[in-house]
Amino acid sequence: MKRRFAGLVAALGIASCAPNGSSSGYGGNCPTVNASCPSSPPSYAATIAPIVNMNCIPCHSPTGDASDKPLGQYAGLYKYRTTSLSTVLTCKMPLVPLSDKKLFVEWLACGAPDN
Ligand code: HEC
Repeated sequence: MKRRFAGLVAALGIASCAPNGSSSGYGGNCPTVNASCPSSPPSYAATIAPIVNMNCIPCHSPTGDASDKPLGQYAGLYKYRTTSLSTVLTCKMPLVPLSDKKLFVEWLACGAPDN
């Protein structure tokens, strides 16, 4: 009975669209990423928008769980640049793979340019 309940909770956890530590995508670990701006910042249009579309838009769009914080357009993402940096750095918001997390963090560290 106890086991069954645990299984049900786990199943619900997977099915719900809510961020938490265990869904960070790194198996419960949160790899450190250096938040510093490289000499040539990643491009919003070419690099960052596709990463955000893949990792954030399933929830941060008009039909998602976080529809009050839309990140699908540059202006929305720019508005939430500070909290996006902290939530992604701490893995509260999932962003995989690590190479993409690094690009996103670097772009934010550069001041989230519309480049
Ligand atoms: C599985 C759904 C989901 C995904 C994927 C997701 N988010 Fe979220 N996000 C939420 C929900 C729900 C909230 C509101 C609840 C909360 O603040 O904890 C939220 C809140 C936020 C906030 C506000 C946090 C604050 O402290 O005010 C930011 C910023 C954010 N998300 C950025 C992102 C970014 C950037 C990504 C992609 C790398 C992302 N999220 C991916 C569901 C998601």
